[in-house]
Amino acid sequence: MNISITKTAAPKQKPDQSHLGFGIHFTDHMFIMDYTEGKGWHDARIVPYGPMAVDPSAMALHYGQAIFEGLKAYRTANGEILLFRPEKNMQRVNNSNRLLCIPEINVDDCVQAIKELVKVDAYWIPSAPGTSLYIRPFIFASEPALGVRPAHSYQFVIILSPVGAYYKEGINPVKIYVESNYVRAVRGGLGEAKTVANYAASLKAQVEAKEQGYTQVLWLDGVEKKYVEEVGTMNVFFKINGEVVTPALTGTILPGITRMSTIELLKKAGVPVSERKITIQEIYDAHAAGKLEEAFGTGTAAVISPIGEFSWNGNVIKVNDGKIGEVSQRVYDTITGIQSGELEDTFGWIQKL
Ligand code: COI
Repeated sequence: MNISITKTAAPKQKPDQSHLGFGIHFTDHMFIMDYTEGKGWHDARIVPYGPMAVDPSAMALHYGQAIFEGLKAYRTANGEILLFRPEKNMQRVNNSNRLLCIPEINVDDCVQAIKELVKVDAYWIPSAPGTSLYIRPFIFASEPALGVRPAHSYQFVIILSPVGAYYKEGINPVKIYVESNYVRAVRGGLGEAKTVANYAASLKAQVEAKEQGYTQVLWLDGVEKKYVEEVGTMNVFFKINGEVVTPALTGTILPGITRMSTIELLKKAGVPVSERKITIQEIYDAHAAGKLEEAFGTGTAAVISPIGEFSWNGNVIKVNDGKIGEVSQRVYDTITGIQSGELEDTFGWIQKL
């Protein structure tokens, strides 16, 4: 793919690496590519970061035909730049696109676009421990029209943000509210797509949980409100009586790349791990029997986040005395070690720029 590059004439001041927060600062450039029916994806370009002209009737603004991704670039101690499984994110774009009736992208071209953009803004990649360059590709329906149907034109955009930890807790365990009222997704819906609607559907529950002192919401299935699905921005794992379990992907759960990597690495390390249906009652009972040993979330933004407590219908489920567990710590150390280049990548996950 041919990508034209127009550099900014006014580079911005870089933020202080010790106070990056998450998704607040943006780099100097962005990638844009257009889709026009009959012409396909065209005009790949890197341009200065800034506001984009969007028609007020652009269909994404009205009917939510939009998807996004999240991945990270890391700076190693010797200055190399690493990407973690970028092809998996771009394959997931196409899964989301199929569900949202958005034309598919070429995975290799889009990995190339990420690499080119990260190279142009390489100077922005932070190197302090726990920091990285968050990469946010997204696609939205740009056609100006108000009929409810798939659009005929789209834009694929990539923006970059130097980030620190997603949760203020960092690697300290978070408190989670088990949501028994609102639902995020139902079977046959959009739950497994990384689409804006799923995040819009999560906001009210998240606000209410925050007001009660919880960091995130744990979603149950949308029909019986019995089966554990995922946490707001992460997939969820439990260690019960020596076995690591995570909810099976049944169409309502986001197929996380950190989730997939965690399963692969536990299997390789010989830790028993299974993907299956898990009821919230099972978690409660395991806790009551002293067999709920650990709980943690996985995600690109959240990395590995230990969970110290669940609140479910007025019951408090404390996990491992509110401390990070041994498996959670091992998964965190291994995944972040591979991502930062400190540990050898025996999986073939890393792509060097
Ligand atoms: C990610 O982990 O990359 C996400 O997209 C989660 C969230 C920030 C929406």
